[in-house]
Amino acid sequence: MASRGGATRPNGANAGNKICQFKLVLLGESAVGKSSLVLRFVKGQFHEFQTWNMDVEVTSDRTEKSDNNLKAAFLTQTVCLDDTTVKFEIWDTAGQERYHSLAPMYYRGAQAAIVVYDITNEESFARAKNWVKELQRQASPNIVIALSGNKADLANKRAVDYQEAQSYADDNSLLFMETSAKTSMNVNEIFMAIAKKLPKNEPQSAGTNSGRGRGVDLTETTQQSKSQCC
Ligand code: GTP
Ligand code: MG
Repeated sequence: MASRGGATRPNGANAGNKICQFKLVLLGESAVGKSSLVLRFVKGQFHEFQTWNMDVEVTSDRTEKSDNNLKAAFLTQTVCLDDTTVKFEIWDTAGQERYHSLAPMYYRGAQAAIVVYDITNEESFARAKNWVKELQRQASPNIVIALSGNKADLANKRAVDYQEAQSYADDNSLLFMETSAKTSMNVNEIFMAIAKKLPKNEPQSAGTNSGRGRGVDLTETTQQSKSQCC
């Protein structure tokens, strides 16, 4: 699935919606823009010459924490579909090779993953393919995987062909979009596409992670959960 459309904000909550919670992990080589995509999606911000990762602040309306020992940041964001509010628990991992062995801790039990490469860096595309292979071998069998060709605003420095990436995604049943955390192109769209593809029909009890590959339906749980919607 490909789209080059413009950005939209996550849409508003509908009263009476079922609320489903999913764990999503971002993987990919260092500096491809994983943290920037999360920052754009959750806060609508972009920092040009700054890597943003571990030092996130706690704010009143979003859950955010960092784990300096484990080298990942955790944030939440909700998107609202017609009859379901999807709450993403987003784990943004560090891409440096020395942290690779920690990755299973984050993708284990994840219902969705975004594997990111930089369209100006061919090596990062090869690395992304390795992440996809690893997820296919070791993550939950029903995990929804999206491939993000980030830094699409740098098309004049393109090193990875769009059609090649699209074909690879089709062959591996991945969602695929070229994105730009800088311009926000397709950032909300890729999360929305994942939200639409996630299975929401078989609710689990809130607070458990036993439903591998399924969401946790929070509709019947606390008002606090509901108040986090959009
Ligand atoms: P690690 O945390 O080391 O794994 O890197 P990362 O994948 O989280 O990359 P990060 O978001 O820190 O971005 C790396 C650099 O790329 C920063 O200077 C960003 O400003 C820049 N960057 C990120 N996304 C984009 C984009 O869409 N377009 C452009 N032009 N630059 C981007
Ligand atoms: Mg980062």
